[in-house]
Amino acid sequence: MAERKGTDSLDRLHRRAKALTGMPVTRRDAERALAACLSDSDMWTVIRHSHAPLRYTTCLWDLMEKEGLLTTQDGRLTLTEEGKSLAEALGIGPPMTFDCPHCDGRGVDVSSGLLKSLLERFRQIAQERPTALQKFDQGYVTVETTIARVAVAWAKGDLTGKSVIVLGDDDLVSIALALTGVCRNVLVIDIDRRLIRFIRQVARSERLTNLEAREHDLRNPLPDAWLGQFDTFLCDPTESFVGFKVFIDRGLLALKGAGSAGYFGLTRLESSLSKWQRIQQFLLSRGAVVTDIRDRFHWYENWDYVEKMRAWDWLPAKERPRDIWYQSALFRIELLRTPRISNEPVVGDIFTDNEAATT
Ligand SMILES: [Fe+2]
Repeated sequence: MAERKGTDSLDRLHRRAKALTGMPVTRRDAERALAACLSDSDMWTVIRHSHAPLRYTTCLWDLMEKEGLLTTQDGRLTLTEEGKSLAEALGIGPPMTFDCPHCDGRGVDVSSGLLKSLLERFRQIAQERPTALQKFDQGYVTVETTIARVAVAWAKGDLTGKSVIVLGDDDLVSIALALTGVCRNVLVIDIDRRLIRFIRQVARSERLTNLEAREHDLRNPLPDAWLGQFDTFLCDPTESFVGFKVFIDRGLLALKGAGSAGYFGLTRLESSLSKWQRIQQFLLSRGAVVTDIRDRFHWYENWDYVEKMRAWDWLPAKERPRDIWYQSALFRIELLRTPRISNEPVVGDIFTDNEAATT
């Protein structure tokens, strides 16, 4: 009986939040959003554990608060006794994490050997990095994350003796790539002149002679000289579906063809599983296969403009995050054939769609 009532109540809240936000979510997302509330009462920790679009979960939490299932105070999200009973009636428990503490669940050990010295050198260099800018949807990952990403590509054989292109690089992954000393050459392109200037400066001072940085807006076609020239691309696209496709298509255009590989990040906070599905269908249609997905691989440093991001207005409690909350999965794809892709200009806003939260 209790379960019946709980099911009805969560169903109703889910349907209402789905209708209000127009998000392509399922009831499972409601379960995740409720389970996350059992993780902690720090709002940002709850968000980190929710694994569902922020646009939808914030709406659901708001409805839960109105129904007395949840309270929000001083940046804390706390289930009331009624809220806890609802979770219990539905058999929903707190989210469990069994991450390896040594590698934070990335499966890459950056704390010893070759990667340790690479990390320390990179950490020094990154201290002087430009701040993240909202107008380019920037927000960079921790230095450990950048080195771990490079390590994965290295271990997959996508770096040694290979030509590598980085499309958009506030993570400074191009510098880390060049520091390995194993790539044939590294080209980094970015719209942000500050980043290009910084990377060039580092290339000079660190004598990274095979690292080249060029200013380029990805909405513009890639110059012929970069087409079909690279073995590997890396990027961390903006997550609107349109923006994502622009990044990946430019990356694929730069690749040589079958056997070439690409890396990118994708969140659950700004991309519903429905968008994940569209993205995977898009990748398959381009002749690529997904070889690796490492969930919660990328950990992002908090950015200054958190109060100006789209999701700020939706948050149940207006409190700046103290710890890391924004994470994304690392994807690796490999081409099985040369895709046919147009290299045309793209006009307009590529940063926003209904699910975008941090732009
Ligand atoms: Fe580990």
